[in-house]
Amino acid sequence: QEDLFKNVVSHAKEYGFIFQSSEIYDGLSAVYDYAQNGVELKKNIRDYWWKSMVQMHENIVGIDAAIFMHPTTWKASGHVDAFNDPLIDNKDSKKRYRADVLIEDYAEKLNQKAQKEIEKARTRFGEAFDEAQFVSTNPRVVEYLSKKNEILQRMARGLESGDLADVKALIEELEIADPETGSKNWTEVRQFNLMFGTKLGASADSAMDLYLRPETAQGIFVNFLNVQKTGRMKIPFGIAQTGKAFRNEIVARQFIFRMREFEQMEMQFFVKPGEEMKYYEYWKETRLKWHLSLGLGKENYRFHDHEKLAHYANAAADIEFNFPFGFKELEGIHSRTDFDLKAHEEFSGKKLQYFDTEENKNYVPYVVETSVGLDRMFLAVFSKALQEETLEDGSTRTVLRLPSVLAPTKAAVLPLVKKDGLPEVARQIIEDLKWDFNVAYDEKDAVGRRYRRQDALGTPFCITVDHQTLEDQTVTIRHRDSMQQDRVKIEELRGIINNEVSM
Ligand code: GAP
Repeated sequence: QEDLFKNVVSHAKEYGFIFQSSEIYDGLSAVYDYAQNGVELKKNIRDYWWKSMVQMHENIVGIDAAIFMHPTTWKASGHVDAFNDPLIDNKDSKKRYRADVLIEDYAEKLNQKAQKEIEKARTRFGEAFDEAQFVSTNPRVVEYLSKKNEILQRMARGLESGDLADVKALIEELEIADPETGSKNWTEVRQFNLMFGTKLGASADSAMDLYLRPETAQGIFVNFLNVQKTGRMKIPFGIAQTGKAFRNEIVARQFIFRMREFEQMEMQFFVKPGEEMKYYEYWKETRLKWHLSLGLGKENYRFHDHEKLAHYANAAADIEFNFPFGFKELEGIHSRTDFDLKAHEEFSGKKLQYFDTEENKNYVPYVVETSVGLDRMFLAVFSKALQEETLEDGSTRTVLRLPSVLAPTKAAVLPLVKKDGLPEVARQIIEDLKWDFNVAYDEKDAVGRRYRRQDALGTPFCITVDHQTLEDQTVTIRHRDSMQQDRVKIEELRGIINNEVSM
């Protein structure tokens, strides 16, 4: 698995998908740039989401709010007071960690010990093994699992009540050491706000303190009534948006999984109070179906229902994906109640109410949101698509089996040789196709190597122009996944490609 992850990172760089930001200056931690192929894949994922949410739903419209927002927004939303990570420093190593992550890692180790005992017993007892019985009676397993739960509960209590001394005490009691140096010399735990601050305005005394938005959602909440009125929207309805968000993440690792600058694709669905659970369930199912439609394998997704809720939610679930480093959050579906709209009413002094003509009354709607990280989607798609294959003749090939609809380039047109007028015909085919698809031209190297290069880029089709083309206006079209080649008329190309790559 570790190797797979390394392959993903190096393939992304080698084939022009993702570069480290400011690489010539040795990079900036947890910040990445999308390269010539990455930007196309990312755009196609965004478009795929937008089309399914906005274009396909009569009652969902889109907006594009600014990244800068009035600073009171973040007071109202709770982010100034509650969008924190509990941090702890090691006095010897001077390294900084998230206290909750240290504790969770410890609890996970206990969990793994229990799982090992379970596996051992399973092999010993074979068919007759009763897991539930074993888990509840085997003294070692009972001890590991109850200790794990006790630790996590104590941590959650400490974080919720704000009693961070308790969290520190827990770290000391468990004798948790600095993962890198082994030192147990810790500072106090303190809350660290994840928002990036900046300033608006030129002169020092008139400058206004701003934040870079940590979620796109607030741009939708503050525009809720503008959109509802001007769009004559009737509840239930949704507002969708994609855009950058910023968080000063401390545990910033795992490539584009956790970034400091990232992109979200969010949709806030406004419903009648009391109907939120119905729509919460609806959107959970609908969003899972959307993910499954990409064909990356049902077994790679699962729901995780939250017990510990964010400051704004009354129910929340993640869609988790099987990343190269295990199952992790890909998308969140949250029932946010009227928390945000009510708070904005209070802080702005403006009413944010909907007049329900059927009920003949005003109310502040409840909100169910779906929120997926575009970069995480990219990583999910890219890491599952990247495959090493052994072919019949024993050779291997690297192929990026991207869903065709998302592939950066839909077809590469390749003249078999660089002479005899073949390049001119290839260029003419590109002239015809480029209005509808991203197409590439490649004449360098032997055609077999050019095929492999397109496989590694995820291009679904290679179109080869040869001498027969000059006689009968046919070309070969090669399919990336099956490597099958068919002879078709040039005029058929558009239809064949379109059939496979359209949404
Ligand atoms: N408006 C709700 C919200 O922002 P969240 O669970 O904090 O909820 C939603 O974030 C999604 O945004 C996550 O499921 C994840 O896909 C993505 N995301 C969050 N933080 C991220 C980060 N540091 N880097 C990349 N993606 C991130």
